[in-house]
Order: sequence, then C-alpha cells, then structure tokens
Amino acid sequence: MSLKENIDPNKMPKHIAIIMDGNGRWAKGKGKFRIFGHETGVSTVKSITEAAAEIGVKYLTLYAFSTENWNRPPLEVRALMELLVNTMRKELPTLMKNNIRLSFIGNKKDLPTSCQKQLEATMEETKNNTRMDLVLALSYSAKWDLVQAIQKIAADTLSGKIKQEDINDHLIDSYLSTHWMPHPELMIRTSGEKRISNFLLWEIAYSELYFTDKLWPDFTKEDLFHAIYDYQNRERRFGKTSEQLNS
Ligand code: IPE
Ligand code: IPE
Ligand code: MG
Repeated sequence: MSLKENIDPNKMPKHIAIIMDGNGRWAKGKGKFRIFGHETGVSTVKSITEAAAEIGVKYLTLYAFSTENWNRPPLEVRALMELLVNTMRKELPTLMKNNIRLSFIGNKKDLPTSCQKQLEATMEETKNNTRMDLVLALSYSAKWDLVQAIQKIAADTLSGKIKQEDINDHLIDSYLSTHWMPHPELMIRTSGEKRISNFLLWEIAYSELYFTDKLWPDFTKEDLFHAIYDYQNRERRFGKTSEQLNS
C-alpha cells in the first residue's frame, strides 16, 4: 500500500520547499561524471512535481541553483545552465497538460541570456495554469533576497513612500521575492546534509524541517509522501503549549 492513502487531505502543506541535494555524490558512486547526476536529478524533479500536484500541494519551490553555486567549476555551471534551458523547453507540454504554472525566485540578471529567455517564455506560456506553482529558485540565496528587500525598503523610506514605523514583519514579507506565496510549512533536504545553505531563511522561521539520507536522484514519490506523512504527525505549537493547543 502506498503511504499516499495515509495522508490526510485536510492537513496538506500548501507550500513545500525542497533542497535537492546529492546529484554529484550519486553520480560519483556510479563512477560517472557529476553532470550525469544532474541529468538523472531532472527525472526526480519530474516525478516529485507530478506527485506534489497529484496530492494537492499548491506551491512547490525547488532550490535548483544557489548564489554560491556560481563558484563551482565553470564547466559544471555551464552544463547545469544548459540542462535547465533544455529541460524547460522539453517539459513545457507536460506543464501545460498538468496545469502547472512555472514561477521563479532569484537574481535573474546573473543568469545567462538563453536561460533568462527560456525562463521568461515558459513562465509566460504557463501563466494561466492554476493547479500548482512550480517555483524554481535559481541564482537564489536568502541573503541576496533580504539584501535587495532592505535596499528597496530603505529607498521607499527615504522617498517618503513608507514611514519607518510602518516597517514590520508583514511589510518585510511584501518586499521579498517570495511575497506572493505562503511561507512553506515543510522544508525537505535530501542527501544527508543537515543545513539550510542560504535557502528561504526568513520564510522558514516556523517551517517543519525534514532531512533524509536519500540522494536526490534516488528520492521517490513515496519518499515525498513519507515526508508529508511525517509532517502531518508533528505538533506545530508556534510558541504555545501542547495543552493550549489541545484544549
Ligand atoms: C545538488 O546536487 C544540485 C545542485 C546544487 C545544483 P549537488 O551537485 O550539490 O550534489 P553533491 O552535494 O555534490 O552530491
Ligand atoms: C544547496 O546545495 C543548493 C542547491 C541544492 C541548489 P549545495 O550542494 O550547493 O549546498 P552546500 O554547499 O553543500 O551547503
Ligand atoms: Mg550538494
């Protein structure tokens, strides 16, 4: 029996964020080049996107390339960018068929022109799809996002558009690149690493974290269902006591 049957549709996380890690180690373990791991990781992206949409997730944010990943060997960076462009091009019919909208967070102007163009074209084509948002975090880091938000807040304060006393957590939310989606209730990281690596620092203030040793190319739909099931069986207290929640 699939764990899917045990998932409570009334307690679904609206937004799941995933740090897709371990492609390189997966390939190395098979005596292959790292890029082979990234290519195989694309199949996982497909199956996990499908599973998330199937089960009723509304936002799936995938950390595909961090600001820090620009420091990787140029050959790997180039291969990753090409893989991204080709995958977006190839998967457009699937996105349309499954009614999924492609969205993006990150520092777009640092991406190669071909990647920016493909991203914009795919977002435009899918903009009226309503089943789920597939959000790619590309050339993204949480600190980058906070810096650009703080710069805009400072500029709007100086110009008088906002007053200093207007600055609160809702206002900060509204300046982040994630302003249009709810904060993730669940964040998953594959590959056994237990760190956040500069992903959604502000937005995960109260997210449930789920770490698995599975490498991203080995992560299956069933593993996603397991993470959701695990999430649904946690008590989210938001600072309160268990007694308060259950009274
Ligand atoms: C995640 O896999 C994909 C990206 C960061 C682009 P890695 O490439 O980080 O794989 P490992 O961590 O080296 O195994
Ligand atoms: C985090 O993975 C970024 C992405 C998954 C895109 P990394 O493999 O780059 O993270 P670190 O450097 O090991 O923390
Ligand atoms: Mg890694």
